[in-house]
Amino acid sequence: MSNVLIGVTGGIACYKIPSLCRRLLDKGHSVRVIMTEAATKFITPLTFESLTHERVYIDDFREGEEPDNIYHIDLVKWADVFVIAPATANTIAKISYGIADNLLTSSVLAKPDDVPLIVVPSMNTVMYESRQNQNNLAGLYELGYEIVDPVIGNLACKDVGIGKMPEPEDLADLVDSRLKSREEYKNINFLITAGGTKEYIDPVRFISNKSSGKMGLAFCDSVKKRGGSFRLICPSSVEAHYPAVFADTAGDMLARVNDFISECDILIMAGAGGGYK
Ligand SMILES: Cc1cc2nc3c(=O)[nH]c(=O)nc-3n(C[C@H](O)[C@H](O)[C@H](O)COP(=O)(O)O)c2cc1C
Repeated sequence: MSNVLIGVTGGIACYKIPSLCRRLLDKGHSVRVIMTEAATKFITPLTFESLTHERVYIDDFREGEEPDNIYHIDLVKWADVFVIAPATANTIAKISYGIADNLLTSSVLAKPDDVPLIVVPSMNTVMYESRQNQNNLAGLYELGYEIVDPVIGNLACKDVGIGKMPEPEDLADLVDSRLKSREEYKNINFLITAGGTKEYIDPVRFISNKSSGKMGLAFCDSVKKRGGSFRLICPSSVEAHYPAVFADTAGDMLARVNDFISECDILIMAGAGGGYK
């Protein structure tokens, strides 16, 4: 049994979230719910309280109750997984910029790194495809959050297109499978190389290749999601969102791999040696 924290924001798909809660409870998980003020216009907290037998959390600045608790810290410490469904364009934008102006967005910033965040966007097609929203979703992806793509279907605004939230049973299965895979690589140490090295002809000119390092970084993401640990070795030119040991030439990369190989269980060589020496 795991602890699932659900963040509900003010989208029309709010009506599906009680069903998501029900299915997660049926799978044996504990569920707590944070709502934005806008979400409470679509569905009442009482619905979630009746289902989960837990209070619903809306406001970080509540008066006179449980003074020992700081909700935006405590709830994410409690959680094994944090799901935001439905995620409005507004909340997606705020999270992507690190804005923390309500309990839900503050909780995202206070989330420990090992608690996965699953974001489930749901909105009108034009909103979903807008450049702002797509850039913000790319930002969330860069931050290592999982985005569940909306599906194509009839939308509340009477349009037909992409933007519909996947059905609660599919979401519940996805959350359940993420919880199970969290431990898959526990206690396994990976050594991962990424990116293209530079082979210098003289102090100014070099031969290299177009490797971006994305493949190696994707391995890092995957290992992290499954509870493994890793050391990343890459050229300083790779835009790594993880701490890395830098190795700019193929010779450096080989030397760094030799430095750390004895501490790893699995070596993944996604780095691309410059090919000239
Ligand atoms: C009837 C109605 C339906 C809405 N549905 C959505 C929606 O499905 N997705 C979305 O991103 N915004 C939707 N909005 C707009 C959000 O409610 C609005 O941006 C709000 O500020 C979101 O606040 P929150 O992100 O704090 O929950 C809807 C607004 C209304 C009035």
